[in-house]
Amino acid sequence: ATLTIDTQHVKAKVSPKLYGLMTEEINYSYEGGLYGDLINIRTFHGSWGDSHWLLRPMGDAEIHDELMKTGGPSAALPECMQLTVTKASDKDLAGISNRGFWGIPVRPSTTYKGSFWAKADSSAVGPVHVRLTNNDTGKGPEAVTAPLTTEWKQYDFTLTTSADHPANVENELLLAVAHPGKVWIDLVSLFPPTYKNRERGSRADLMEKLAAMQPRFLRFPGGNYLEGDYINERFDWKKTIGPVVDRPGHRSPWNYWSTDQFGLPEFLNWCEDLKMQPLLAVFAGYALKHDYIKPGKDLEPYVQDALDEIEYITGSTSTKWGAERAKNGHPEPYPLSYVEIGNEDWFDKSGSYDGRYAQFYKAIKAKYPELQLIATTPVNGMKPDMIDDHYYKKAQEFYEMDDHYDTMDRNGPAIFVGEWATREGGPTPNFGSALGDAAFMTSMERNSDLIKMASYAPLLVNVNPNGMQWESDLIGYDAMTSYGSPSYYAQVMFNKYLGDEILTGKSEGAGSRFFYSATRTAATGTIHLKLVNGSSTPKTMTIALDGATKVAPTAKLVTLSAKTLGATNTITTPTKIVPVDGTFKKASGKFTYTIPGYSIQILELETK
Ligand code: AHR
Repeated sequence: ATLTIDTQHVKAKVSPKLYGLMTEEINYSYEGGLYGDLINIRTFHGSWGDSHWLLRPMGDAEIHDELMKTGGPSAALPECMQLTVTKASDKDLAGISNRGFWGIPVRPSTTYKGSFWAKADSSAVGPVHVRLTNNDTGKGPEAVTAPLTTEWKQYDFTLTTSADHPANVENELLLAVAHPGKVWIDLVSLFPPTYKNRERGSRADLMEKLAAMQPRFLRFPGGNYLEGDYINERFDWKKTIGPVVDRPGHRSPWNYWSTDQFGLPEFLNWCEDLKMQPLLAVFAGYALKHDYIKPGKDLEPYVQDALDEIEYITGSTSTKWGAERAKNGHPEPYPLSYVEIGNEDWFDKSGSYDGRYAQFYKAIKAKYPELQLIATTPVNGMKPDMIDDHYYKKAQEFYEMDDHYDTMDRNGPAIFVGEWATREGGPTPNFGSALGDAAFMTSMERNSDLIKMASYAPLLVNVNPNGMQWESDLIGYDAMTSYGSPSYYAQVMFNKYLGDEILTGKSEGAGSRFFYSATRTAATGTIHLKLVNGSSTPKTMTIALDGATKVAPTAKLVTLSAKTLGATNTITTPTKIVPVDGTFKKASGKFTYTIPGYSIQILELETK
């Protein structure tokens, strides 16, 4: 078999934004995932409200609870928990506790910050005792707040664990009082140290894993989560900004409650923390269960909402929504180049997308001509700036579409592969999936003159059996730890060695399960040769770097491989399959190379 790379001609520039992230509230991605807050159902919403809370009378204490539908701390949060304490004392407290998202992860010598809203029917109820208690030892730090008043107020607390607090998830947060009376509680929060110590910030281990991918953009807020099952369950961005007590939350189409505490400002901070460009998807008048708004007058408020959202992100502080952003703590505008209009509108059989896209397009371009506007499916009557293609496939199917983009018309819209994944294995994909992914990434890199951006989906999964709605997600976690799937590591590798020039090549006799791409970093002359062997047997080939006058014999070699397609990483074996660095010492203008079976490799060939 041979692989010949033409080093003399550059086909095109590699899109510098090729690899990014796609995200939405699915699989407990933010609630019970990236968003640092450890308290589950912290706003006591609806029938979900009491399922994660336990009554805790100690000793002789007596207490009962009632979920209230009205009377909460704000118009946005009418619901709250009413506790009626008929007997309590300093020795026998009465209260409620929460055990988080299938556990509250607590570590020794660590400071946790929290808050809750509360009021009492009389000041005689006194303060709230807040305890972070280990379920086995019954021990943990305690804070005592100021006495409750008859007005709703926010109470903040800090809890620092002792050096001998067990590091595990068997903990609960207790809020209790020492005197009889009625107490109302809402919006309970508990944060561990967060990534970059952001107030109400994100979980550090997940952010670090995402940072290692060096993503260039973030497509948010969905996916289905943008649309909602019904129009009134869409991601209504104006209800996700400002103080969290003013955010009503909403039901996500993935069937659980979203508090929207991870809202538009948090998405934008996430972009800032990881140096990603926001790729904003705006609600375009179509919901998952097929309700849609007719183009024309009825759609106007939704178009206006999108214009306001863009202004919130990019407007100066002298604009209405730019000023709102500044009020929420971020006077500087965020960069924005791409706006996607809707999500997967090929499901809309009414044919309304042509008109809806056109109406959004005209209004957005009139005000923001510099923005690139992405369509979610081809549109009759106009050429969108970009089309979002989605692929959820088996590895074999990705192998078979290796040349799909090689021959595609370059005069059409640019391509954004906004969702893609090989779906084999769960809750996170196995090594067979990583091979399918890597094969697809070689084709995206070879064609990144056309494919400007790509983002795998879904990104995150809480691997608790109750946490997953979609099998095969890039990064898995439970309350305590997280891990990357083999597919995750394949992406880390591909983006780390991306290069900026596409070189053309030709492979012959390598069989139907061999895939490659060759890019180069112009400044250093390093050729990044990506090789994927999806068969179980090693493949020996002659690799020729046509036109290269100088090739260093020693090349860096990075390998991700496994013995079987089903091999995988899990929450208990998180690093079974990880990239391994090595060297190859016999590189030249034409050399023999053997790619091991079931492997993804990158050869860093130095040509300057
Ligand atoms: O990634 C999961 C879902 O797949 C997305 O929400 C949706 O856009 C697609 O159908």
